[in-house]
Amino acid sequence: MTPAVATSTVEVERKQPAEGEATTKLPRWRRSGRGRRQWQEQAPAETPKLEKPPAVRFAHPSESEFARILDFYSINWQYEPRSFPLRWEHGRVAEAFTPDFYLSDLNLYVEVTTLKTGLTADKNRKARLLKQLYPEVNIKLLKKRDLLTLLAKYGYGPLAPEEVPDIDRILIPTTRLQQRVAELGAQISRDYAENDLVLIGVLRGVFCFLADLTRHLTPPVTIDFLAISSYDGDSTGGAVRILKDLDENIKGRHAILVEDIVDTGMTLNHLLDYLWAKKPASLKVCALLDKKVRRLTNVQVDYVGFDVPDEFVVGYGLDFRQRYRNLPFIAVLKHELLP
Ligand code: IMP
Ligand code: MG
Repeated sequence: MTPAVATSTVEVERKQPAEGEATTKLPRWRRSGRGRRQWQEQAPAETPKLEKPPAVRFAHPSESEFARILDFYSINWQYEPRSFPLRWEHGRVAEAFTPDFYLSDLNLYVEVTTLKTGLTADKNRKARLLKQLYPEVNIKLLKKRDLLTLLAKYGYGPLAPEEVPDIDRILIPTTRLQQRVAELGAQISRDYAENDLVLIGVLRGVFCFLADLTRHLTPPVTIDFLAISSYDGDSTGGAVRILKDLDENIKGRHAILVEDIVDTGMTLNHLLDYLWAKKPASLKVCALLDKKVRRLTNVQVDYVGFDVPDEFVVGYGLDFRQRYRNLPFIAVLKHELLP
């Protein structure tokens, strides 16, 4: 028997464009040089595709509450995706156990025991049997308190160390961030296997991403930073100013500009002009987040972690008035806080 599998998604997924629209091809680089030729030989990077969830009919209200909590924290789930035979009679399955949820990010089956205390003893017995028969399977019986403890371990929820009263919801949870950063690192490592690479991080928002990304790079790599002034309503005209220039000479070397987020693309556009003037052998762009819908310029982003909707996001290095850089996930700021 194969039970119907329902897969969860989160807000970020629901707001994405339909398949095919998601990875819009941007215009080719308008610059000349080795970097351009290199780009054209390669397939564009695949940005994660996000799907729409089918409706799920839950057997119990506590299960739908659990699903809502998982959705709020952007943890992927499937409802009753698999039954495990536990006992056989005359060659037929006489008893089976179908755990309520499977959380793919955590590789964990969860049986929700909240509000069904009468059945807890029987569930404990079944879970024990399951562990004996299928030692490779992780399963947890959860009471509500256990759930909050589990979430806190991954940086979420009221028991987590961070107080985050100003966030609307978690957009990209820690596990998914880490997984995608590792993929980007592997991809860059393949593309630059033969090269001596200079990574240029744009301070300050990039510090978490760059620190994690570099630990997934295998080619020899040099790290450098740029710091720039951002537009504030008070400045008396002028352009983006370089507050801290490169320490490295990138002439004739292969460079990647690493950004936390590309929004209008104006910052990136300015920085690319600035860096091309230093005559690198090639220059590409890697951004953790891409707010494509807000783009005003034709800049090419070669490596993208996630396409994000038109929301103000914080965490994992990104700030709102210098706060929230320390959150281990990417979250959407409450709309009412924005000017
Ligand atoms: P752009 O020049 O409009 O592309 O702006 C890019 C810069 O604006 C980023 O490097 C960030 O510093 C900042 N920024 C844009 N959107 C966000 C956001 O949602 N959260 C935090 N910072 C942002
Ligand atoms: Mg920035």
